[in-house]
Amino acid sequence: MCGIVGFYGKQDAIAIILEGLSALEYRGYDSSGVAILDEKHLLKCVKEKGRLKVLEAVVKEEHMVGSIGIGHTRWATHGVPSKENAHPHLSEDETIAVVHNGIIENYLELKAELVEKGYTFVSDTDTEVIPHLIDLYDEGDFENAVYQALSRLKGAYALGIISSRYPDTFMATRKESPLVVGVKDGEYVVASDIPAILSFTRDVYYLDNHEVVILDKGHLRIQDSQGHLVNKTVTHIDWNKEAASKNGYSHFMMKEIYEQPTAIRETLGRRLDEKGHIHLDGIKLQKEDLEQIDKIYIVACGTAYHAGLVGKYAIEKLARIPVTVDIASEFRYSDPFIDRKTLLIVVSQSGETADTLAALKEAKRRGGRILAITNVVGSSVAREADDLFYTWAGPEIAVASTKAYTAQLVAFYILALHFAYTKGTLTEGGYTDYIQEVEALGTQVEIILSEKDHIQDVARILVEATSAFYLGRGVDYTTAMEAALKIKEISYLHTEAFAAGELKHGTIALIEEGTPVLAIATQDHLVEKMVSNMKEVKARGGYVIAIAKEDTPHIQQVADQVIEIPKTSDLLMPILAVVPTQLLAYYTSVLKGNDVDKPRNLAKSVTVE
Ligand code: F6R
Repeated sequence: MCGIVGFYGKQDAIAIILEGLSALEYRGYDSSGVAILDEKHLLKCVKEKGRLKVLEAVVKEEHMVGSIGIGHTRWATHGVPSKENAHPHLSEDETIAVVHNGIIENYLELKAELVEKGYTFVSDTDTEVIPHLIDLYDEGDFENAVYQALSRLKGAYALGIISSRYPDTFMATRKESPLVVGVKDGEYVVASDIPAILSFTRDVYYLDNHEVVILDKGHLRIQDSQGHLVNKTVTHIDWNKEAASKNGYSHFMMKEIYEQPTAIRETLGRRLDEKGHIHLDGIKLQKEDLEQIDKIYIVACGTAYHAGLVGKYAIEKLARIPVTVDIASEFRYSDPFIDRKTLLIVVSQSGETADTLAALKEAKRRGGRILAITNVVGSSVAREADDLFYTWAGPEIAVASTKAYTAQLVAFYILALHFAYTKGTLTEGGYTDYIQEVEALGTQVEIILSEKDHIQDVARILVEATSAFYLGRGVDYTTAMEAALKIKEISYLHTEAFAAGELKHGTIALIEEGTPVLAIATQDHLVEKMVSNMKEVKARGGYVIAIAKEDTPHIQQVADQVIEIPKTSDLLMPILAVVPTQLLAYYTSVLKGNDVDKPRNLAKSVTVE
C-alpha cells in the first residue's frame, strides 16, 4: 500500500529514487511523485497521475539535480488517484515535502484545527496535515518540529521528510508501516521494502515502530520517540537484485510460478537434519508446550488465509489439535477465545499486512502464544512472534501470490508433521513417508509446468466467459477458493468457488449453456461424489474442466477437458492442484491483455485496515 523511497548522499538522487520506486510499484501504482533539494537548496517537486513511466517522462523534461530527495508511488485511500492527491505533499510555502505510506486516522480533526489556524489544503488526502503540522511547530529546529508533529498523529505511517529550510537534513520514521534504511559508503536509501534498495546496497537497518532516522550533515542517527539514540545492527540481505528482477520471463508472476519447485525445496530442505528429521530453529515450542495447547487459531488474509485452511486439514489430521481458521479483519473484532492454552498461527507473505498484524497483537494481549509463518525476514509479524517459521520462497513481486502460497503450504505440512511427531500422534514410518512425499513435490510441480501449453489452450475458454464456477470437496474446496481468487484478481473474470455438494442448494441456477465450471477432484474418497456433481453441471449445459490425479476413473468420460496432475497423498494434493489454476489465471489474464503483475485496484502489501 504505497511505496516510499528517500535518498541522502552525494550522487544524483533522482535516478536512485526512480529506480527504487519502480521496484516498489507493486505496492501501488495509481500516481507517483518525487521531490528533491536542488543545487540552490530549493525544493523541487513533480507528481503525476498514472504509472511511474508517466512521472519519469515528466522528470526528464525538468532539470531536477540534487543529492537529497524523496519519492512515492501511491495506492489511493483518501481521495481519488490524481495529481493533487499524489505525494509528496507540501507545506503552503512549498519548503517542506512529505511522502507517506499508511493512514492518519485523526486527520479530519487535525485538518479542522489547521484550517482554523489559517492553513489551506489542496488535496483530499490525510497526509497533507503532516507538512502543515511541521510548519506549525517549526521555530528553527527541524528535528523538534517533526517530533512535535509526530506526537499529534494517530494511525499508521512510514514517512520521508525533507525541507529547503534545512537543506542538509533528511528525516524518516515509521509506526506500523514498514521502513528500512540501506547504507553504503556514507550514503543512504530509505525505503518501504528491500527491493527498492537492492541495486544500491544489501546492508540494511530494519526500523522499529516509533524510531526516527535523522540524516544530518552526512551522518546517520536513529533515535526513539523520546529522542534517545538507538543502537542498531546492520543486517546483510542474502538475496540479490536478480532475485527481484524478471530474469527473462515476460512477467514476474510467470517467473514466480516457475520458481515454485525451488521454493518448495528450500522451505523443506533447510529444515531437515542428517537423519531426515525435521529441525525447526525458530520454533521454541517444546513437547510440554504442545501438550498444554488445546486449540489453534490460524489467522490471515486472502491467499494466506487459504493456506491456513489447508493448514487446518494438515494439523487436525496429523497432530490431532482442533484448529479454527479466521480472516484477520474479522478475527480482531470477534472477541475470540484466546488464553494461555491457545496457539495463534499468523500467515503473511509480506509480514506487514495491517489486519494480520492487528490480529496478532490482539491475540498476544489476550495471552495467546504466537507463531508466525512469513516470507520476509525481519518483517513486523516476524518481530512480534514468539515462534517463527520463514518460508524460503525468495522475494515475491507479482501482486498475485503464487510461490509464497505453495511455500506456506509446505510450512504447514512441516509444522503439522513436527507437532505430530513431537506429540506422538504419528508413527515413525508415517512421519518419514510424508517427509519423502513433501520432498518429491518440487519435481511433481515441474511435471505440471511442462504441460503448460495444454493449460494455455484451456484458458481460451475462460477468456470468452462472463462468469465461472470453481468446485471442490474436502481440501479441494480450499484449492478452489484460492484458484478463484487468483483468476478474479488478474483476469477480472467473475468466479465463485463452491463446495461441490452445495451447488445444488441454490447456485446451480446460474449454470447456463457453456458456463465454465472448474472441478478439482483429487481426493480419492470424494472422487465419485465429484463425478456426480460434474454430471449435474453437464446436464444443465455447463462446460466442465476437471483437475484430477492421472488415471482417475470416469473423469475423462464426464469432463470436457481434463488437466491431469501427478499423484501424492491426498493431504498434499493442494500444492499440486493449485499450479494449473495459477497458469489458467495467468494465461487468461495475458489473453485479455491485462497487466498481469499489477492488476487494477490492487496492491501487494496491504498495510491499511
Ligand atoms: C492474492 C494475494 C493477497 C494476499 C493478502 C495477504 O494473490 O496476494 O490475497 O495473500 O493480501 O498478504 P500477506 O500474505 O502479505 O499478509
